[in-house]
Amino acid sequence: MEALAFSDVTLELADRIILSRVSFSIEEGEFVGLLGPNGAGKTTLLRALLGLVPATTGRIRVFSGAAAGADEAIGYMPQTRSSNVGLRLSGWDFVACAAKGQRFGLPLLDRALRFDVDRAIALVDAAGLARRPLVELSGGERQRLLLAQALLGKPRLLLLDEPLLSLDLNHQKSIVSLVSELNRELGLTVLFSAHEINPLVGAIDRVLYLGNRQAAIGTVDEVITSAVLSRLYGTDIDVVRLQARVFVMAGAFEIERDEHRHDV
Ligand SMILES: Nc1ncnc2c1ncn2[C@@H]1O[C@H](COP(=O)(O)OP(=O)(O)OP(=O)(O)O)[C@@H](O)[C@H]1O
Ligand SMILES: [Mg+2]
Repeated sequence: MEALAFSDVTLELADRIILSRVSFSIEEGEFVGLLGPNGAGKTTLLRALLGLVPATTGRIRVFSGAAAGADEAIGYMPQTRSSNVGLRLSGWDFVACAAKGQRFGLPLLDRALRFDVDRAIALVDAAGLARRPLVELSGGERQRLLLAQALLGKPRLLLLDEPLLSLDLNHQKSIVSLVSELNRELGLTVLFSAHEINPLVGAIDRVLYLGNRQAAIGTVDEVITSAVLSRLYGTDIDVVRLQARVFVMAGAFEIERDEHRHDV
C-alpha cells in the first residue's frame, strides 16, 4: 500500500520555486533516505507532507488522504531544535513535553500519555537517559530522546529531518540502526533526510535525491550515479566508490561534504 505520493507537485516559498512538478511515491514500510545539497528543499518537502507548505500545482497524498489531514499518523523530528529550552528537565520530562502538542511547559499527563511516553522511551532504548537531566546528555543522547518524541502517539510514518546532524560516526551508526529497527519491527515508513549518503547505505531501501528543483528516486545504485547527480546538481559530478564508501565529487571537491560546511 502507498504511504505517500507527490503527483506533479510544485512547492514555492516567497515566490521562489523550490520543487517543480515533482512526482514520486513511497510504499508503506519503506525506509527512504532524503538527500540533496543545502537549499534543495528537503525540509520544505517534509513540511509539505505535514500540510505546512501547500502545493501550488499537483497533489500530495499521505495514506491516501490530503497531507494536512494526516498529522495524527506522522511522527516528525524537525531540523531546527531548540537547544537551550529546559535543560534542567529530566530526559523523561523532555520527551513528555512533546506529548499532545504540549511542547512548552509540562502538562499533567494522564495515565495513557505517561504510558505512551514510557513506550516511546523504551523504543529508543533510553530508559537510563530518561532519568538524567537533559543538561548532562550528549548531542547523540539528546537525538535519541528527540526520536522518542517523534514516536509519541504511535505514528505510521516518521519524517526525520537531519537526525545525524553534528553526530560523530559512532552515534550516526547507532541512530541509523535504531531507525532501521523501528522500520523493520514496527513496519514504520521512514523518510530520513541527511546530507551524506554513506551513513545510510545498506540501511535504506531507496533514496530520494533533490536538486535543481527536481527529484530522483530509486535504489542507491540507480540514483547515486554520475548521470543522475549531474542533472540534480547542474554540474558535472563523478561518483567514486572505494571500499564500500561512495564519494560524490565535483572536480576535486567532495560535494556532499563540502556543500554542508555550515553543519560543522
Ligand atoms: N520561509 C521561507 N521563505 C522563503 N524561502 C525559504 C523559506 N524557508 C526556506 N527557504 C528557502 O527555500 C529553499 C529550500 O530550503 P530547505 O530548508 O527546504 O532546504 P534543505 O534541502 O532542507 O537545506 P539544508 O540542507 O540546508 O537543510 C532554500 O533556498 C531556502 O533558503
Ligand atoms: Mg533542511
